[in-house]
Amino acid sequence: MFPYLLVGMLLGSCYCSKEGSMTLGRPELSGPSLAMVTDIITFDCLLSIYPKKETILLELFKEGNRDKLLGVYSSSNASFPLIVKASHDGNLECVARVQNNSHVEPSVSYTHNLKVIEPVAGAEVIIQSGAEEFFEGRTLELKCTLTAGNHVSYKWLLNGQPVLQSPLNNVANDHLFINRATSADSGLYMCVATNKYNTTTVFTSNSSEVEITVKDVVSNPAISFKVLKENSNNYFAVVTCQSTRGTLPITFSLYNRTELAFNKTVEERKVNFKVPLDLDRHSGWLQCQANNADEVAYSQRLPLQVVSVGGPVMLRYDYDIGQNYAVIGLRLYCKTRKGSHPRYQWFLNQTLLQGRGSFYYVVNQPPDQSILLLSVGRSSAGTYHCEVSDIFDNTTAMSSNKQYIDKMVLNRLPVSVVAVVFGCFIFLVVLVSACCFLGVLFRGRKSGKESLRSQEMETFAVYEDELEMSEYREDNDVVMSARCDEFDWVSKTSEDEVCGRPADGL
Ligand SMILES: *[C@@H]1O[C@H](CO)[C@@H](O)[C@H](O)[C@H]1NC(C)=O
Ligand SMILES: *[C@@H]1O[C@H](CO)[C@@H](O)[C@H](O)[C@H]1NC(C)=O
Ligand SMILES: *[C@@H]1O[C@H](CO)[C@@H](O)[C@H](O)[C@H]1NC(C)=O
Ligand SMILES: *[C@@H]1O[C@H](CO)[C@@H](O)[C@H](O)[C@H]1NC(C)=O
Ligand SMILES: *[C@@H]1O[C@H](CO)[C@@H](O)[C@H](O)[C@H]1NC(C)=O
Ligand SMILES: *[C@@H]1O[C@H](CO)[C@@H](O)[C@H](O)[C@H]1NC(C)=O
Ligand SMILES: *[C@@H]1O[C@H](CO)[C@@H](O)[C@H](O)[C@H]1NC(C)=O
Repeated sequence: MFPYLLVGMLLGSCYCSKEGSMTLGRPELSGPSLAMVTDIITFDCLLSIYPKKETILLELFKEGNRDKLLGVYSSSNASFPLIVKASHDGNLECVARVQNNSHVEPSVSYTHNLKVIEPVAGAEVIIQSGAEEFFEGRTLELKCTLTAGNHVSYKWLLNGQPVLQSPLNNVANDHLFINRATSADSGLYMCVATNKYNTTTVFTSNSSEVEITVKDVVSNPAISFKVLKENSNNYFAVVTCQSTRGTLPITFSLYNRTELAFNKTVEERKVNFKVPLDLDRHSGWLQCQANNADEVAYSQRLPLQVVSVGGPVMLRYDYDIGQNYAVIGLRLYCKTRKGSHPRYQWFLNQTLLQGRGSFYYVVNQPPDQSILLLSVGRSSAGTYHCEVSDIFDNTTAMSSNKQYIDKMVLNRLPVSVVAVVFGCFIFLVVLVSACCFLGVLFRGRKSGKESLRSQEMETFAVYEDELEMSEYREDNDVVMSARCDEFDWVSKTSEDEVCGRPADGL
């Protein structure tokens, strides 16, 4: 126990007294904390506590790297001049030791941080994902490399606009990732590298622009065909294959089932193939294929069959009835027995009706039928018929029966009903009159009052006139209101015409 205490006391006395001390105090390192590359700066290192007889050596190191001496000074108060290099960036430390005496432990200063700014230079975009041209869905990865610079911040530009962070875009410092790229990600990419010394001294290096092209895979084409008649009896199907998207060029192929019939590479999203055609015969199943990448896009299969129109052409109609049995709207239907490519045409008094007019509306439902919607009015009266021809050959036109239509014809049924009702009424009047007459005759035989009988007959006649007129008026009012309410497919002008005037017949 005693020897230990002695040693302890001895050590304590050595440490406390400056004179003859055998340990080293902690050196103090001071200097600038910010510098630019190639600046010349000075670090000071001061050691206060040391054995005076010994020669003191002060050394400057980067923390953790004792192999590379940055400066050495044989004194207890050193001043290290330093030409700043990028590698000096970080924590520096000063080490004090006693020369030619390994018995005294060296001591180390607290670290001093030096931030070295090396201006950025030589920015360049590297395509890490490989090709500058590729198909949508892949990931684009770009990297910004520099020949010089530290403490750098990066900015990515696409066509001069910043690329922002998003679920698909990952802007990670010198890397840019664009996941599931689309053609919207095509353009000129550039990186801008920046570092700054202080608020006024900022360094920037712009890369040159790199063009990236993201190509769209071609979409499934639509297939359709038109019939073309050449000379007298040569028919062709002009088959159209059309895709809505896809980067050009596109190779379109036309298959007859599994057999390649035609192919063509074009600088548009549409192509026509001219295929010989026999009418009224099934000429196979056609399919378009479109290709601008490794994958092929397919259309539906379309039967190539053209049936020419064949009679008879049937015309029929039905109608909408308003209140009081008045016809307010009419639908005429035109149909052929056969024909896959019919053209329907409607005529009123030999005048062609097309599209939409003041009192009509043509609704084509090819190839099945065509419907002519009519509002019943003064201008729609006349003789109607329809004609059907092959759309590709108007010499094949066939006509339907002619149908005369006006309000009188249409309301024939209600008129007969009115006639029956009116007939019954007359019958009733006659019956009552007869009864009265007989009664009067019977009573007259008893009393012989002739004057009374003639007076009664007059009253009946007046009553009858009044009834007829009121019935007529009421009928007209109802017809008008029914037209205005229910006939909503009639255009504005025709509605004015129909509703503005009294419905006084056609
Ligand atoms: C230290 O030792 C070296 C050789 O080991 C010698 O050259 C030098 O003179 C010595 N320095 C002092 C201060 O003793
Ligand atoms: C920034 O650093 C430059 C170069 O050392 C110097 O000229 C300028 O005065 C500094 N500006 C500020 C705001 O410290
Ligand atoms: C670098 O790019 C930035 C941003 O587009 C621009 O403001 C600057 O002028 C460019 N500098 C050079 C040297 O091209
Ligand atoms: C068209 O088909 C032929 C025969 O299969 C083929 O040799 C040719 O390369 C194709 N052309 C195009 C543009 O695909
Ligand atoms: C398609 O193939 C069928 C059977 O091989 C043939 O009869 C028909 O003419 C072909 N159609 C076209 C348009 O080549
Ligand atoms: C059509 O002809 C009939 C007589 O045949 C005529 O009453 C009617 O006003 C004509 N209609 C049109 C719209 O020309
Ligand atoms: C038939 O069609 C041709 C070409 O489309 C046209 O020139 C001709 O006038 C038409 N003929 C008839 C009767 O419509």
